[in-house]
Amino acid sequence: RTLDDAGALAGKTALVRVDFNVPMEGGKVTDDTRLRVALPTINKLREAGAKVALLAHFDRPKGQVVPSMSLKPIAGPLAELLGAPVHFAEDCVGGPAHAAIDGLDAGGVVLLENVRFHAAEEANDPEFATSLAELADLYVNDAFSAAHRAHASTEGVAHHLPAYAGESMRRELEALDAALGTPQKPVIGIVGGSKVSTKLDLLKNLVGKLDKLAIGGGMANTFLFAQGVDIGGSLAEKDMADTAREIMANAEKAGCELLLPVDVVVATEVRPGAEARTVKAGEALSADDKILDAGPETVAKLNAAIDGSKTLIWNGPLGVFEVPPFDAATVAAAKHVADKTRAGALIAVAGGGDTVAAVNHAGVADDLTFVSTAGGAFLEWMEGKPLPGVEALRA
Ligand code: 3PG
Repeated sequence: RTLDDAGALAGKTALVRVDFNVPMEGGKVTDDTRLRVALPTINKLREAGAKVALLAHFDRPKGQVVPSMSLKPIAGPLAELLGAPVHFAEDCVGGPAHAAIDGLDAGGVVLLENVRFHAAEEANDPEFATSLAELADLYVNDAFSAAHRAHASTEGVAHHLPAYAGESMRRELEALDAALGTPQKPVIGIVGGSKVSTKLDLLKNLVGKLDKLAIGGGMANTFLFAQGVDIGGSLAEKDMADTAREIMANAEKAGCELLLPVDVVVATEVRPGAEARTVKAGEALSADDKILDAGPETVAKLNAAIDGSKTLIWNGPLGVFEVPPFDAATVAAAKHVADKTRAGALIAVAGGGDTVAAVNHAGVADDLTFVSTAGGAFLEWMEGKPLPGVEALRA
């Protein structure tokens, strides 16, 4: 159920779960993406004449009141983006929250203090969920990126009020469905990042769903090692070799073509501008050699595979993209994906912490079909797991 199903909203109070877990330095917001994605829902409710009470967490205070984790510094930047005042309530339940909401005019906005200052939040305590529900007439969840948490503000409260998906939540779910639920085929995935062990469930789920899967980053080293390729002194999880072989066998059974690096960029140190050389996968390496990026031939093969696909889902960089020149493969592939998407030939969805940074680094975030704001929630969704925050909206 989305906001369009909520009926007349004038005079009502909406409790809106947003994800304002934004990067901050010295009390200042350094990336306001998550504030901006909340604007369409807030504006829609304001225009309909509802009062808006924003509920969010910040960081992990573990049920304690930690002043440095207050949401108060967010109110100013949010008000600026909104072009309207944003009031602040010193607590997200009880007297302060009720008083702040009572004081709002129709269309007014209040930001409630960090919900994780209450231990009952993460415990999904029903009494606490009831206290949250008492603040409002309806609940709107606009925090896809926190939907993998079964907490009172993301899950419990949805059972005590009429509950709806906000605009950002709706857009995320539609994009993710277009990429993996009911995609236009063929579908290709790119999964990178350093460790196989953190993405096991994801890889297992994807090989059963995709036509092609390119593996990059440090985790590709583990796969190469499992195939008997010399990886020198590269980062790899050698104890995961059997698992990697199992994933390769399952991919073959499921008809999912795995693309592993056919050439790699090698250096003896990881520092900007380090001397690097490109070698074919399988060439002998020394114990000092570290594989830090995919090579140009690998990127050419990947790009050709992308050309033959209609949908792409991307999580994780292909190399150590934070340290140039080891960003070359990630940037080249991202630019190719952006060209194809702009030309209308590809639906491209990317997500997960590092991936967003990598696509931003390549300067193409605006060209993809959708870049998720979610980290952990995007991964759990790629693993095929139900997200409690989303499921509660269906119930
Ligand atoms: C995120 O930043 O990914 C979400 O806000 C979830 O935060 P958490 O991992 O602390 O639950």
